[in-house]
Amino acid sequence: MTLVQQAELREPSSIQPIWRVLGSLRGYVWTALGALGSLLLLTVASAVTPQLFRWGIDQGIAKQNLSIVLSSAGWLVVAAIGRGLFNFGQSYWAEAASQGVAYDLRNTIFSQIQNLSFSYHDQSQTSQLLTRVTNDIEQIRAFLSTSLIQVINSIVTLVAIAVILLVMNWKLALITLTVVPMAGFLLANFLTRNGALFKQVQEQLGDLNAILQENLVGIRVVKAFVRESTETTRYTSMNDALVRANMKTIRAIRNTFPFIFLLSNLVTLAVFGYGGAEVIDGRFSVGELVAFNSYLLLILQPILLIGFAAPAIAQAVASAERVYEVVDAKVEIRDRPNAVPFETCGGRLTFENVSFRYPGATTEALKGVSFETRPNELIAVLGMTASGKSTIMNLIPRFYDATTGAIRIDGRDVRDFTLQSLRSRIGIVFQETTLFSGTLRENIAYAKPNASLEQVIEVAKAAQMHDFIMGLPDGYETIVGERGVGLSGGQKQRVAIARTLLTDYSILILDDSTSAVDAQTAAQIQAALDDLMHQRTCTSFVVAQRISTVQNADRIFLMDKGRLMAQGTHDELMQTSPLYGVILESQVKRSVSV
Ligand SMILES: Nc1ncnc2c1ncn2[C@@H]1O[C@H](COP(=O)(O)OP(=O)(O)OP(=O)(O)O)[C@@H](O)[C@H]1O
Ligand SMILES: [Mg+2]
Repeated sequence: MTLVQQAELREPSSIQPIWRVLGSLRGYVWTALGALGSLLLLTVASAVTPQLFRWGIDQGIAKQNLSIVLSSAGWLVVAAIGRGLFNFGQSYWAEAASQGVAYDLRNTIFSQIQNLSFSYHDQSQTSQLLTRVTNDIEQIRAFLSTSLIQVINSIVTLVAIAVILLVMNWKLALITLTVVPMAGFLLANFLTRNGALFKQVQEQLGDLNAILQENLVGIRVVKAFVRESTETTRYTSMNDALVRANMKTIRAIRNTFPFIFLLSNLVTLAVFGYGGAEVIDGRFSVGELVAFNSYLLLILQPILLIGFAAPAIAQAVASAERVYEVVDAKVEIRDRPNAVPFETCGGRLTFENVSFRYPGATTEALKGVSFETRPNELIAVLGMTASGKSTIMNLIPRFYDATTGAIRIDGRDVRDFTLQSLRSRIGIVFQETTLFSGTLRENIAYAKPNASLEQVIEVAKAAQMHDFIMGLPDGYETIVGERGVGLSGGQKQRVAIARTLLTDYSILILDDSTSAVDAQTAAQIQAALDDLMHQRTCTSFVVAQRISTVQNADRIFLMDKGRLMAQGTHDELMQTSPLYGVILESQVKRSVSV
C-alpha cells in the first residue's frame, strides 16, 4: 500500500492534528505567551480607540471644549502607537515560535525517516516524503505564525467588542451581532465542504514532485528512450491538474466571501437607521453612534480574518495529518527491550526453517531455508534470478525480520542483538551501488570518516581500485557526482567494496558485487578478498552469478524459487545437483561462445 492509499483509507480529516501542532508549542512557551500578550494588548488598544472618539465628540466637540478635543486626539495617537508596537510584538513572537516548531518537526521527521525500516521505504514514494518535509511543514509553520494569531485575535476582539456594544446599547448591539452567527455559519459550511479539496491540493503537489524527482533521477533513461515530450506532457497535465484544484479552492473562497460582505453592509444599514432614530429621539448621543459604527467595522474585521484564515487552517490540518502520518509510522525493526550488543562472532550462523514474505507480496521469497555455517567459512550463494539470494542476505543484518523461523549467530537470535552493533559488525556490499556526491576518499571512508589515507588506500587496493584512482589528476580527492556520476558501473562497484572493507565487519556479505567488473578483475578482487575473508571474518557470503568466482568457496548454496535446493563443494554439487549442472553448463557454453 502506498502512503497515498493509506491516507485515503484513514478517517476524513478532523481538527485533531491541529491540537498536536498546538501541543508542539510547548517548547516555545515564553515566545508563544509573548505573542499572546501582545495580541491582548493590541485588542485593548483597538477597543479603546472608538471610546476616545466618543469622548472627543460628546464631551469635546458637542460641548465646545477644545482641551478635551485635543487630549482625545493625543490619546488617539498614543493608542495608534500602541497598536503598532503590539502588532509588531505579536507577529515577531508568533513567527519565532512557528520557526521553532517547524525546525523541530523537520528534525523529527528526518530522524524518523532514518529509523523507518526497509519495508516502509519499499512502499513509500520518496517525493511524497520530500513534499512532507518541505511543503507540509511550511504550511504548518504558516498556520502558527499567521492564521492561528488571526483566529485568536479575531475571537478576542469579537468577544471584547460584543461586550462593549451590549453595555453601550443592548438592542442595537443585538441587531449588530446577528452578523456573527450568520458569518460563522457560512464559514463552517465552507470548511466542511472544502476540507477534502485542500488535502487534494497537497497530494497533487506531492504527485507533481514525484514526476519531477523521477525525471531528475532518470533523466538519462528519459533521453535514451526519447521520452522527453511524453514526460513533459505528463508533467504539464499534472501541473494543470494542480492549478485546476487550486482554482477550485479559490472559487470556493470567492463564493463565500461576497455573502459575508453583503451581511456586513446590511448590518451597517440597520445600525445607521435604527441608531440614527435613537439619536433623533435623544436616547443615544452622536458620539455613541460614531463609536458604535467604528466598532461595527472592528467586528467585521475579525470575521473576515477568520474567513481568510479558514483555507490556511484547512490546509494546515491536511498537512499536519500527512506529517504526523510519517512521524507515527511504526518502526517495524527495532531493538528488543533487553537487546545485547553483538561483540564476538564465533562463526556459527544458523537459518532455522526460515520463511519470508515481503510486506505486501503475495508469495514467499524464502521457503523453509535451513543451514548452519562453520567458523571462518566462505559460502557462495548461487541461483537463478529472483531465487531469493539477496533476500537471504537482507535477513542477516535485519533489514527485514523473518516471517517464520529464526536466524541465529552462535545460537543467539539476531533479534536479540542491538541493531546498531549487529549492523556495524556486518559488512554488506549491496547488489545496487549507491554512492554519494563527494570525493572518492569520502565515499570510501563513508562509515569511518576518520580513517587514515593509508587505511583508505589499503582497502582500495583490495578492491582493485587503487591504480585507477592514482591515475586520476586529483587521486583520492577526485570528486564524484551524485550517485557516483563520472565512474563506470564496475568502478562504482569497486568503490562500494572498498567502502565496506573499511568497516569493522566480522561477517562479510558481497551481493553480486562484481557483476559489472570484468572476469579477470573480479578474480583479482576475489583473490584479495579470499585472504581477508579467511583471516578477518567469522563467516562470509558471496552471492555471484559466475561459477568461476565461487569455485574456491568452502561451500556453495544453490537457491531455486526461494528454497535452498542443494549445498556442498563444487565437486560435490557437480555429482549431486542436476540444477548445478544446468547452470554450469550454460556458463561454460556462454564463455565459449563469448
Ligand atoms: N523489496 C521487495 N519487496 C517485495 N518483493 C521483493 C522485494 N525484493 C525482492 N522481492 C521479491 O523476492 C523474490 C526474491 O528476490 P531476490 O532479490 O532475493 O532475488 P535474487 O535471487 O537476489 O535475484 P537476482 O539474482 O536477480 O538479484 C523475487 O520474486 C522478488 O520479486
Ligand atoms: Mg539479488
